Amino acid sequence: MGQLKSIGILTAGGDCQGLNAAIRGVAKTAIKKYDMEVIGFHDGYAGLIENRYLRLTDRHLSGILTIGGTILGTTRVKPHKVSLGETTVDMTAKVVANYHKLHLDALICIGGGGTQKNALRLMQNTDMNILTLPKTIDNDVSGTDVCFGYDTAVGIATEAIDRLHSTAYSHHRVMLVEVMGHNTGWLTAASGLAGGADVVVIPEIPYDPKSIAKALIERNRSGKRFSIVAIAEGAMSKQEHAAKQAALQKGKKKHKAPLLEDTAVIRLHRHLGELTNLEIRVTSLGHVMRGGSPSSFDRIIASQLGSHAVELVNDGHFGVLVAMRDGKATPIPLEEVAGKRRTIELDDPIITSLQQLGINLGVDKL
Ligand code: F6P
Repeated sequence: MGQLKSIGILTAGGDCQGLNAAIRGVAKTAIKKYDMEVIGFHDGYAGLIENRYLRLTDRHLSGILTIGGTILGTTRVKPHKVSLGETTVDMTAKVVANYHKLHLDALICIGGGGTQKNALRLMQNTDMNILTLPKTIDNDVSGTDVCFGYDTAVGIATEAIDRLHSTAYSHHRVMLVEVMGHNTGWLTAASGLAGGADVVVIPEIPYDPKSIAKALIERNRSGKRFSIVAIAEGAMSKQEHAAKQAALQKGKKKHKAPLLEDTAVIRLHRHLGELTNLEIRVTSLGHVMRGGSPSSFDRIIASQLGSHAVELVNDGHFGVLVAMRDGKATPIPLEEVAGKRRTIELDDPIITSLQQLGINLGVDKL
């Protein structure tokens, strides 16, 4: 091939660590190795719709490898469903027009599950050449072994759990710590394992409050007068889970982020307050998990995936998620992965490890 000259790039969805490393990986490889032009759109798909962009040069890339967030900005705007007052408008035609106006040969969309779906939709309904990269602290993009952002966020949550230990044992308290992860438990399971939590509660295993209460009381009776419970923001009791399923079957829309007084950790606090006399405190890690400098692992994979995306563009290979498989950047057809969420299977090694260590998973028996 070799005649491809211009690549567009955008970051969409929630930010995470490693986005700038990926932008840098794409742009350095494109500019230095192939003498291509790289157009960075501001604020995800919004920039593409509104034709807001930046021609990336070496100056923009300097010093960004170690910085969190994204120099391009991000939003959760979907090209086919842009909010306009009370209604939504399909802006796909605008996206296509701007792509061609800038003479782009390919567009690289960096994002999580929503971004992959939007990218597939563009690929199927337009003549644009699309590739995606998997980023999210949630680690739930299907088709890749890992997403960048995840490793750093696990490190932050692990450190938080470590720090909760000393205050928990000093005060003989139960510390409930809520960990992000949307509807998957990767972050909670990994940081719970690494941080030595006593109870790990994840969305994949709807919990029985009585089982958690029993585990905490038994631990207390055995002389361990403090406990740490790591709970995923998407976790639900069996009862809450059944109610949600029933509501979904009745055609109710998926729930939005819960109000502060109704988050997973607060609901669990309420249950445990009724079932135990233990002194309990609550911590919610929230967006702290998405902030700050990426770990070296995230910098490495984001750089590798970014560079590989450009190699694929140069080869004329489009319509793929550039995934990390067995330690190697690997193109996977977008149709195979978009719209699927990678959750934790009950036979996953991380569940096995938690069980082997005697950590309560919110139920007496799996
Ligand atoms: O997808 C990443 C994530 O941080 C989830 O863990 C969380 O549920 C969500 O984004 C929060 O989104 P927002 O930044 O829009 O509040």
